[in-house]
This record gives sequence, C-alpha cells and structure tokens, in this order.
Amino acid sequence: MRKALYPGSFDPITNGHVDILERAAKIFDLVEVAVLENPSKEPLFTVEERVRMIEEIFRGKEKIKVGSFRGLLVEYAKKTGAQVIIRGLRAISDFEYEFQMALMNFKMEPQIEIIFMMPRVEYSFLSSKLVKEIYSLGGTLPDLVPPAVDRELKKKFNDT
Ligand code: PNS
Repeated sequence: MRKALYPGSFDPITNGHVDILERAAKIFDLVEVAVLENPSKEPLFTVEERVRMIEEIFRGKEKIKVGSFRGLLVEYAKKTGAQVIIRGLRAISDFEYEFQMALMNFKMEPQIEIIFMMPRVEYSFLSSKLVKEIYSLGGTLPDLVPPAVDRELKKKFNDT
C-alpha cells in the first residue's frame, strides 16, 4: 500500500491544503494529514481542535486520515509506515525553507521520498497566517476556507 503523509501546522487548514489533499488522494492509497503538535509556535487552535476540524472536512473519505505528531517528522513517517512526505509549494518564497527541510529529512531518512505539489492558482496566495489575521480583524474568507473552519474562526474571535 502506498501511504503518504501530508504534514503541517494546519492552524487552521485552508482550501489550499484541502485541494492538495484531494489531489494527493488520487495518487496514493492512503494520505494521512499529520498535524504538528507544537505549543512553542503558539497556535490559535489546539491540536485537538485542528484535528477535529480536519476530521469533519474529510468525513466519509476513506483515503484521507488525520493524525498528530510531535518530534521528528521522519520518525513519525517511519512509525506510521509512510513512504512519502508531501508538501505544498506556493511561491518562490516557500522554496528555500522547503528545500532545506527536504534535504535534511532526506539526509536523516533516505528511504522516505519528499514530493512537492503546486496549489491551484486560486490558492497560491493563501496562507493560514493571513486567514487568521483577516478573521481576527472582523473579515471573512468563506471561499478560501472550508465551512467548518469559517465557523470555528468566527467562534474563536467572537468569543475573545
Ligand atoms: O505548516 P508548516 O508549519 O509549514 O509545517 C512545518 C512542518 C510541520 C512540516 C515542520 O515544522 C516539521 O516537520 N516539524 C517537525 C520537526 C522536524 O522534523 N524538524 C526537522 C525538519 S528538517
């Protein structure tokens, strides 16, 4: 079975991530969204909240699963039997960081392949960081985030 991991912070997941996941699921038998548990990044959503939102979005999609991890990504990939790590690559600005990470991961674990996928053009400017900023200032982006995320962002900022 060809299993891929799609790791990230997903704080929160956007339609850009969803697009890559749905396309990756056409290539692999199973794709696991691996949500980084990293309190030092001070996420807006807890790891449980991020996982719950992603589960809601992909409910009923057999080829997409959700998990969370801490520590090294390549260790988690080995532990979960993934042969491939998928990362999205939006603009040139993503390239340097992604290139460094890919080469380090490859150095530690040459058995694991790292594959980059381009987002659709309508999502190539989209980032979780800007989504959070816009919602925090009272704006909304219903075309760019799944309904569950739109709902949870509104809840988060209306409650604070
Ligand atoms: O969505 P992000 O924040 O760009 O995702 C970054 C992520 C989770 C892929 C990266 O921070 C990561 O892999 N963290 C786990 C720790 C690790 O393995 N570090 C070594 C990278 S070479």
